[in-house]
Amino acid sequence: MADIVAPVDITATPEWKALQDHFDALQAEGISLKDWFAADPDRVAKFSYDVNDLYFDLSKNLVTDETVKLLLDLCRAAGVEERRDAMYAGEHINPTEDRAVFHTGLRRPKSDIGKFIVDGKDAIADVHEVLDKMYAFADRVRNGEWKGVTGKKIENVMSIGIGGSDLGPVMIYEALKPFRTGPACRFTSNIDPNDIGEKVKGLDPETTLIIVVSKTFTTLETITNAKMARWWLIDALRKAGAIDDSPEKEAEAIAKHFVAVSTNLELVADFGIDPVNAFGFWSWVGGRFSTDSAVGLSLILAYGKERFEELLGGFHDMDLYFQETPLEKNVVAIMAMINIWYNNFFKFETHAVLPYNQYLHRFPAYLQQLTMESNGKSVRWDGSPVLCGTGEIFWGEPGTNGQHAFYQLIHQGTKPVPSDFIAFANTANAIQCEGQDVHELFLSNFLAQTKALAFGKTADEVRAEGTPEQIVPARVFEGNRPTTSIFGIELNPHSLGELIALYEHIVFTEGVVWGIDSFDQWGVELGKQLAKQILPAIHDDEALAGQDASTKALIEFYRANRK
Ligand code: F6P
Repeated sequence: MADIVAPVDITATPEWKALQDHFDALQAEGISLKDWFAADPDRVAKFSYDVNDLYFDLSKNLVTDETVKLLLDLCRAAGVEERRDAMYAGEHINPTEDRAVFHTGLRRPKSDIGKFIVDGKDAIADVHEVLDKMYAFADRVRNGEWKGVTGKKIENVMSIGIGGSDLGPVMIYEALKPFRTGPACRFTSNIDPNDIGEKVKGLDPETTLIIVVSKTFTTLETITNAKMARWWLIDALRKAGAIDDSPEKEAEAIAKHFVAVSTNLELVADFGIDPVNAFGFWSWVGGRFSTDSAVGLSLILAYGKERFEELLGGFHDMDLYFQETPLEKNVVAIMAMINIWYNNFFKFETHAVLPYNQYLHRFPAYLQQLTMESNGKSVRWDGSPVLCGTGEIFWGEPGTNGQHAFYQLIHQGTKPVPSDFIAFANTANAIQCEGQDVHELFLSNFLAQTKALAFGKTADEVRAEGTPEQIVPARVFEGNRPTTSIFGIELNPHSLGELIALYEHIVFTEGVVWGIDSFDQWGVELGKQLAKQILPAIHDDEALAGQDASTKALIEFYRANRK
């Protein structure tokens, strides 16, 4: 195991103290976005950034020029730039697992072959070997050369995985639906049999390809779902008379209908999937950072090589931007540090992400794993306790649905929620309704919400509308509710790749400031262990006796009520 370099004691730095003093001074003066906008006609120009397909407006955040300067001083003091460069070089910056972190290598072009040796291997050559294998396989499936066991073309794909082996592909599949040119995909993740039970409904086994996606190939949910899918496939094919009962036909059906994505090719073979039909990746790709590796095979099947390359291009462009742009102009670093500002100085409790694009409806769920599995930690990468609050709580829903659900709290509640609003100038469904461009109607909501949150509505303004005095307080909006607007040209593979990489690097930057290992996930292990231990207690009295009182009571309820 390599020596662990201790993280900076961030709260003991003069940069932290300077921020605390600045925070106290702002609180004493009073924060008013309205006044700040009035006093500084350049505020929007100062706090807006153009990055390829995306325009960022950070002007409605609770920051001044001085705040951003001090936040970037803190970013430098934490050593973000050095650690970023170590990550881009594929160094072992995941100390608790002693692993390199090199997801940025997944999107490097072929011209980078030979430039990055990670764990003694030419990582970019390996990446492109797998990509080429996936592209060739996807071509065969898409053009009908690859056939199911009864000679039919593959029309549907079911991808089985969980966490990082599911959330990214689902989110991207949903986001890019207008671009689909290949098989339709379904995704099964939950070990709840209701999930696979619903997903196989209406699916023709003769035209279905199943991808089992698991980095470790040991994950209980995924292996159980894969076994159920194997049983479903063989049973359905036999019942339809499509294959006979012979073990040879069963093996042939599995070979034609199952492929795997994993770093553990031995276990793939044990499952009965021919390693020839397996697509690998590497220990230096964390699960939640793996969507642009072979984990995204379903996306290549659905969208084709060109679209996947555009997606990788978007990731790579954002990687380069984050690496090459000086911190003072680097919107990725600035967004991350503003998150630190809210989390650690304002002590805001959560962070909403509100995509004004229905195709991004799984984006908040995807971000939840990315941010919370990465940064929900109480110890630092050297094992010492964290020195301040970590791990932003991300949540959200697409606008405008959210407006009619929880925006009330964001506008007038007692817990301010910094929010990222994401929208695109163009829509895949340009529809006019009674002469009204519906996308413009939609966008007016995107624009209105951040305006209302920032500038609010005073009691006098409410009164001027003739509101009875008694109701005035309920209709006042105090404003100063912070938002970031991300406005893209169009939701397409490239802009989506940029968006994902943006958040990956925000998560990384926050992790470095807090001194935590953003690439391990030990916190998910105990529950997994206990589930194995508890399972026998559901039926066995002796095992039940060893459980705590609460678990016992819950199991007794189950025993009494299971039909
Ligand atoms: O939930 C823990 C976790 O290890 C995630 O980090 C990971 O994305 C998921 O389980 C799935 O793991 P695997 O790809 O090994 O099946």
